[in-house]
Amino acid sequence: MPFDPETLAKPNHDEFSRQRFVFGLKTFIAGDLTPGNRAVMDRQVVPAFKRAHGRGPENRRELRQAMERAPYHQTWSSLMLLAQEMMWESVEDTVDRQIDDLNAAAHVTRPRGSLRVNPKLEIPRYITAVDHHVMPGSYYVETEADDVRAGAIFDAGANMYHLGVRGRQTDVMGLTIAAVVRGEYPDLVPQRVLDMGCTIGQSTLAVAQSFPRAETHAIDVGAPVIRYGHARAEAMGIPVHFSQQNAEKTDFATGFFDLIVSHILFHETSAKGAVRILEETHRLLKPGGVMVHMEVPVRYRDLPLYDQVIRGWQTHYNAEPFWDAVCSMDLVKAAKAAGFKNARDGYVLWSRDPEREPRRLTATPNQGREWRYVLTARR
Ligand SMILES: C[S@@+](CC[C@H](N)C(=O)[O-])C[C@H]1O[C@@H](n2cnc3c(N)ncnc32)[C@H](O)[C@@H]1O
Repeated sequence: MPFDPETLAKPNHDEFSRQRFVFGLKTFIAGDLTPGNRAVMDRQVVPAFKRAHGRGPENRRELRQAMERAPYHQTWSSLMLLAQEMMWESVEDTVDRQIDDLNAAAHVTRPRGSLRVNPKLEIPRYITAVDHHVMPGSYYVETEADDVRAGAIFDAGANMYHLGVRGRQTDVMGLTIAAVVRGEYPDLVPQRVLDMGCTIGQSTLAVAQSFPRAETHAIDVGAPVIRYGHARAEAMGIPVHFSQQNAEKTDFATGFFDLIVSHILFHETSAKGAVRILEETHRLLKPGGVMVHMEVPVRYRDLPLYDQVIRGWQTHYNAEPFWDAVCSMDLVKAAKAAGFKNARDGYVLWSRDPEREPRRLTATPNQGREWRYVLTARR
C-alpha cells in the first residue's frame, strides 16, 4: 500500500522521498523480519533453553530474556528502534519548515467547534516520565508559546507508524468504535459524546461523523496536540469541542455524557490512572449511557508466549512502560469496582471497510486477522 499521508504539513519532494524510504524500511521489518523471530525461537532459542533448564520457557520474562540473547532478535530489535527514530526525524523537517503556518491554522475565525487549553493543568507523571513511542517531546512539550508542533509531528508520524493501513485520515479505529456502539447498543442515540485521550482527534472525528446529531467533546492532557486537532477538525469541517483536561478528573458536570469512548488511552497511563479514568467515566455518564474503551490487544492470557514477547517489545524498547502491565491487568474487574456492574470485554475486528466486518465482540482474538480489545459497559 503506498504511503500517502493526508496531513496539514505537506512534505516537499525530498522530504517525501525520505519518508517513503522510512515507510519502506518499516514495512520490510514488519513483513519480512518480524516473522523470522518465530523460527529463531523454535529452532534455536527454545531448544537451547531446554538443554540448559530441562524444560521450556514458562513465562513471558523467561522467553524474552532467552530471545534477547539471539543475534537475529537483537538485530531485529535494533532495526525496529532505529526505524522508529528515523520515522520521527523524517517528519520533523516537514513540520518545522511550515511551523508558522501550522501554528496560525489553530487560530480559526468562526470555528464550528472550540478549543480550550489550560496552562495550569498538571501533566501526569506517566506522561512526563518518557517520550512515548520515542516521539521527541511526547504529546505535551511546547517548543514555543501556543504551538501545534507535537500534534503535527504525531499526525505525520502516525501514518507511517501504522504503515498506512488506517486510511488517509487515520479514521479506521474511530469508525470501528462507532460500529461497536451501533452493534452492541443499537438503541443508543447519543446526545453528547466524549473521546478521552483524543491526541489530534483522528478517532474523534470518525466518531463525530458517525453520530452527527451529537455534540462531540474531546480531551487530552497535551495542549499542542489538541491545538492541532482543533485546526485539523476545522479544516475538515467537523465540529468538535477540544479541551485540555486530565481524564482522571475533568470539569464536566456529573452525568453530562451518554457516550464515552477512548482509543489506545489506557496503555499510556498507569495502574492508578486507569482506575481513576474508569471512575471518572462512571461519574460522567448519565444512567443508560455507554462506555466503549478500545485498547491495544490486552488480556495477555489470551495470547501465546511468543506473541506476548513480540508485542511486549513496546514495553522495553519503545518507551511504552505500561504496555505489559495493562495487558496483564483485569480491566473488567477494575470497571466493576468503578461502578459498572455489567462491564465486559472482548475483541473486535477492524478493517478499512467497516461495513463489511462484524462489530459484535468476540471472546477471543482472531489469530491472523486485525483485532482490537474492547472494554464496554452501560451505566
Ligand atoms: C496513543 S494516544 C491516543 C490516540 C488517539 N485516541 C487516536 O485514536 O488517535 C494516547 C493519548 O492519551 C493522552 N492521555 C494519556 N493520559 C491521559 C489522561 N489522563 N487524560 C487525558 N489524556 C491522556 C496522551 O496525551 C495521548 O495523546
